[in-house]
Amino acid sequence: MRREFLTGAATLAACSPIPPGAARAVSREGLADHARQSGRYFGAAVKSRLLREDRAYRAAAARECNILVQEYELKRKTAEPKPGRYDFKGADEIIDFAQQHGMRARGHTLVWYTANPTWLEPAVERAGKAEQRRLMTSYIDVAMRRYAGRISEWDVVNETLEPNQGRADGMRAENLWMKAMGEHYIDLAFHRAREVDGDATLFLGDYGLEHDSPRCERRRTAMLKLLDRLLGRGVPIDAIGIQGHLKPYKEPFKQRQFADFLDTLSGYGLKLAITELDIADRGGPPNPEKRDREVAAFGKAFLDVALDNPAVESVLCWGISDQYSWLSNYPEYKWPDGQLSRGLPFDGKMARKPFWDAIAGAFDAAPPVGRRNRA
Ligand code: G3I
Repeated sequence: MRREFLTGAATLAACSPIPPGAARAVSREGLADHARQSGRYFGAAVKSRLLREDRAYRAAAARECNILVQEYELKRKTAEPKPGRYDFKGADEIIDFAQQHGMRARGHTLVWYTANPTWLEPAVERAGKAEQRRLMTSYIDVAMRRYAGRISEWDVVNETLEPNQGRADGMRAENLWMKAMGEHYIDLAFHRAREVDGDATLFLGDYGLEHDSPRCERRRTAMLKLLDRLLGRGVPIDAIGIQGHLKPYKEPFKQRQFADFLDTLSGYGLKLAITELDIADRGGPPNPEKRDREVAAFGKAFLDVALDNPAVESVLCWGISDQYSWLSNYPEYKWPDGQLSRGLPFDGKMARKPFWDAIAGAFDAAPPVGRRNRA
């Protein structure tokens, strides 16, 4: 079956909104059941407090997901508040929940320019080269050893690109690790991660790779050139995490363009995942039902492309319910009138939305992982 995007450049404008009432009858199946049909995984970023305190959220996580990731509790700011003093309580609860429910788990994230404890950057700035390397790899050692065998894939390095910061190579200049070591911090991080847990799948993740916009085009170009350099140096990267924070009312989307980008990435022999999917609806129609249908249509157009690539093994949303989405607090995306952003598969009352059906439908139409529909 040749997907429609091969013949045209489907965009948001071309997506037919899902008709009212098209939401499938509520049944007990979850999105993970749809993902499993093609050998794939669906999941979400979760917070341990919500798993403890919100019964509907906990039930949805158990029903809908077969992979989980920590929204913030394995970031170094939370996990190592003082040098050498760790707090993995929240992350442990999430991993225990995943294990109790037979789910896979991602680790997010080992090396990032932000969400670091306040002591780290000053320590790196005053350290010599060997100590700078130790300051970075110490967290890799401790976190990966703790969860070896329970976290099967890690965002080893997150958000290393930022063309707006003036570097010709599009790398993120305002980055403590880049300032300390240059881009070879990435080499060190991945080689260390491979040494510590040789069974884990090692991801490089980033955002702004999805839309048909100058912003995303610059980021895609920088990513591909970075991969040429890293893989050329033998850096052990296994996979690319495409975050998937989409903003259809601000930037266009062309299915064929995104399909070609995914083909180029999988052409390196890399696995792929959509790791943080949500859809910023600010700027959409004021009527929430109409907006929900448009968001669902765009989500399906995006996932039809992603899931047609045999290297895409999993899709995770950055949250389960609109009630707790970061979108509703983030300046660029939050609604001025304070209404919730509606960018996730479940609304603020944990009811399914058309986006849920769109995700289910995209998984139902997907070829088995490792094979593709297209010739
Ligand atoms: O839970 C603590 C609370 O105990 C404390 O009193 C409070 C004040 O410091 O902080 C609370 O933690 C906050 C946490 O979210 C949980 O709400 C952190 O401050 C806050 O920085 C953290 O923000 C997260 C942000 O990454 C930075 O880590 C967001 O939840 C999370 O959605 C966001 O996720 C990022 C991905 O990691 C990378 N891709 C982009 C994505 C969206 O920005």
